[in-house]
Amino acid sequence: MPALDPTSPRPLPDGLVLRPARPSDLEQIGELLTARGEEYDAEDHRLVVEDPAAGWESCAVVVDGDRVVSTATLLDEELQLAVPGRDGEAVRLPAGQVELVATDPAFEGRGLVRELMGWAHALSEGRGHVLQVMIGIPYFYRLFGYSYAIDIPAHRPLSAPPVPEALEGYAVRPATTEDLPEARRLQAAAQRAADLRMPHSPPRWQWLLERHGSTTWVVERTDPGGGAPVVATGRTTPPQDDPVLAELAATDQAAATAMVAHAHQLAAAVEDPSPLVVWDRPGSVTGEVVDRLCGPAPRQAEQYYVRVPDEVRLLDRLRPVLQARLAGASVDLPSEVVLSTFGRHVRMSLVDGELGSPRGGGTMQSPGVDGGAGVAPDQLGALLLGPHGIIGLSERHPDVYPGPHADVMAALFPPVTADLLTYYLP
Ligand SMILES: CC(C)(COP(=O)(O)OP(=O)(O)OC[C@H]1O[C@@H](n2cnc3c(N)ncnc32)[C@H](O)[C@@H]1OP(=O)(O)O)[C@@H](O)C(=O)NCCC(=O)NCCS
Repeated sequence: MPALDPTSPRPLPDGLVLRPARPSDLEQIGELLTARGEEYDAEDHRLVVEDPAAGWESCAVVVDGDRVVSTATLLDEELQLAVPGRDGEAVRLPAGQVELVATDPAFEGRGLVRELMGWAHALSEGRGHVLQVMIGIPYFYRLFGYSYAIDIPAHRPLSAPPVPEALEGYAVRPATTEDLPEARRLQAAAQRAADLRMPHSPPRWQWLLERHGSTTWVVERTDPGGGAPVVATGRTTPPQDDPVLAELAATDQAAATAMVAHAHQLAAAVEDPSPLVVWDRPGSVTGEVVDRLCGPAPRQAEQYYVRVPDEVRLLDRLRPVLQARLAGASVDLPSEVVLSTFGRHVRMSLVDGELGSPRGGGTMQSPGVDGGAGVAPDQLGALLLGPHGIIGLSERHPDVYPGPHADVMAALFPPVTADLLTYYLP
């Protein structure tokens, strides 16, 4: 059990109290989120806490008497990392995502979000999450053990809008609950192009239909025989404000193009329109459409934050993937795999090609002496889930190196492509 009980109220300095949120806090939390964040935050928060699948226990507040002065919410997520060579098989990584964070300006800088992050991480641990992933303001969340690790999809400006005829033979409409099985199937197919996937959680699919901060669309093909199969989906943000088309998924390129054409028409129809930005999905059917219609993404790096609370537990979860990677590599195997984060280290035995359970140990400054690799703790998320792999990271960071068994480490920790679906569109 975590040291801190996330379900109990906890006194903080100056008479403030951190406690789980209650229905009577709804209005104040909504006002605080809207004042400090975005127009749709209050609605997004309400959809989460009023859904029993997430519930009020997902949210905490700091109160000064009856006044809500700070808040945060924890969402349940699941990342899935593909097991190479085993079609469709993936290791499941239960994860938490902190969202909807805000402090009243009069109470800023007193460590209230630090306390709320402690609450969220204790709750996350209690729920069996083996990592946390999040989108957040730059730098801030590094203070709470997060590092940038997983690429956010490239945001590519639409440079060659499809002609209106691209919509002929298609009908585009907002998705309804009845469309969710098809939308989920299309998303799952698109996500299979990536090694690491995070689908929308079942309750989030419903929140997405109800929220006004974005619209989830389906594209139906009007077949001559009278059928109208759903052949594409996508999610747009309100067209008047930096419109985005994200989560584009389709059975074929023509259907994907119809979705882009519809999003372009929405974006172009407002007064003083801004160009549509389309999220790339390389390797999927829609990736080729985006390549054809869009210009290059800005060079600015965009990544999700990751926090790895316990590397031994996470590596144990990842063992089937690591095992399959070794099985697929033609390398001479050492008798154990050693990975040091310098302040601590992990050992996994290798007997007859079988990777044993990870065992944690203490400080190890020179893992190369034991045939091991070194990785700074703030690069561990990037090593396990990021796009560079150990070799790419070692070229960027002096405190990441593969050690004497570089070929084994390169096989164990290759670049990982990712496709994460999130409540907010970063
Ligand atoms: C960002 C925000 C949530 C911080 O809340 P807060 O309660 O003042 O944060 P804390 O006092 O717990 O800050 C913890 C630490 O981060 C520092 N810090 C605060 N805001 C920071 C920022 N924007 N960037 C970097 N450091 C920051 C604090 O000084 C403190 O440092 P310390 O522990 O060394 O003393 C608050 O300013 C806010 O609501 N901003 C507007 C909404 C927003 O951006 N929400 C986040 C969306 S992801």
